Amino acid sequence: MTNNNNTQKLKGFDIHAVRKQFPILNRKVNNYDLAYLDNAASAQKPLSVINAISEQMSHSYGNVHRGLHTLANETTEAYENSRIKVAKFLGVPKAANIIFTKGASEALNLVAYGLMNEIQPGDEIILSQMEHHSNIVPWHFLRERCGAVLKYIPVTEQGNLDLEVYKSMLGPKTKIVSVVHMSNVLGTINPVKEIGQLAHNSGAIFIVDGTQSTVHMPIDVMEIDADLFCMTGHKLYGPTGIGALYAKTSIQERMQPFNGGGEMIEDVFEDRVTYNDPPFKFEAGTPPILQAIGLGAAIDWYSQYDFSEIHAHENSVYNHAVEQLKSIEDFKLIGSAENKGPVLAFNINGIHAHDIAQILDKYGVAIRAGQHCTQPLMNSLGIHSTARASFGIYNTIEEADRLVDGLKRAITFLS
Ligand code: ALA
Repeated sequence: MTNNNNTQKLKGFDIHAVRKQFPILNRKVNNYDLAYLDNAASAQKPLSVINAISEQMSHSYGNVHRGLHTLANETTEAYENSRIKVAKFLGVPKAANIIFTKGASEALNLVAYGLMNEIQPGDEIILSQMEHHSNIVPWHFLRERCGAVLKYIPVTEQGNLDLEVYKSMLGPKTKIVSVVHMSNVLGTINPVKEIGQLAHNSGAIFIVDGTQSTVHMPIDVMEIDADLFCMTGHKLYGPTGIGALYAKTSIQERMQPFNGGGEMIEDVFEDRVTYNDPPFKFEAGTPPILQAIGLGAAIDWYSQYDFSEIHAHENSVYNHAVEQLKSIEDFKLIGSAENKGPVLAFNINGIHAHDIAQILDKYGVAIRAGQHCTQPLMNSLGIHSTARASFGIYNTIEEADRLVDGLKRAITFLS
């Protein structure tokens, strides 16, 4: 089962019809039409998501799982429906394997904390050099607190993981392998199924950070055979403050709870406590109810479209931009893996990425610049930072042209 498979698809990809659903795309920035090319950082929200949250608050809001009144029951149903939508979207048969979190970072923190008791001094955790800090720092906690040894799969010049080196790293001490599915800088889509098979052959737990990939490709967690897989809502045209963690039942049973509080317990006595069943065992306190409902609406909205059409569109905008930019002297594309998503990180020799981003903003073009929360990757590439344009469903060829024009002006201004 792959994501959004049972949903009726719209026929033909109509970019104008897509854009009309995003009110923010009508605004001006510095007197220019907004060209929002920072989707890897966070995507804009369609009306159906905005309205779903607002309608829930206006008509049917209460706390979940606790109430015996109509509003609480309606809200619980909407919240649990969103869990089912996430499960389907990720190709997961049982919604109980989906834990709602604040985002992918919290999901990875939950996993690292949850598995902490299994780590002995000298146990090895394999990550990659292209990980976001959210898939590095939680494992540093285990290095600091349990004596875990962190190892990093190197990245080739093209931006691929060096799988030969990875194979040589695996051994009896490998307890966890945790890698990103699609890099937020290089755009590289990693062969996670193969990486996972090798991890499992070594008896390791296999974790995939799907923060970027869930937006750009159909996901089938069962096919990948990840033990744990996380995603976030705000990059998938949903609200901030909501993400999800898939965990296999056997792993849910092994993980200790992360946060304590209401709803995650079965019984609490003065001298002992017993826990609720997963996923509730991992969702202490009032959860991000409205955000979860908004994520469900975002999944509904996104699932109307045919993934292959979205990707063909996004890739055509990305390829168009790269082709134009290549003609600029001193342009250096960062990340040229064959299998990559529409993330365009680059540098212009002699110009700081922050200056590029600030000048582009003067022309209404929004990009990100900096280290993109990937300092080990920057170090491995021998660079300090990059500029980064990242494309989403609503971006156009004209916006790619505006990136190129704005960049040419920035170079003239800054050289
Ligand atoms: N992880 C986000 C990015 O790549 C914030 O910009």
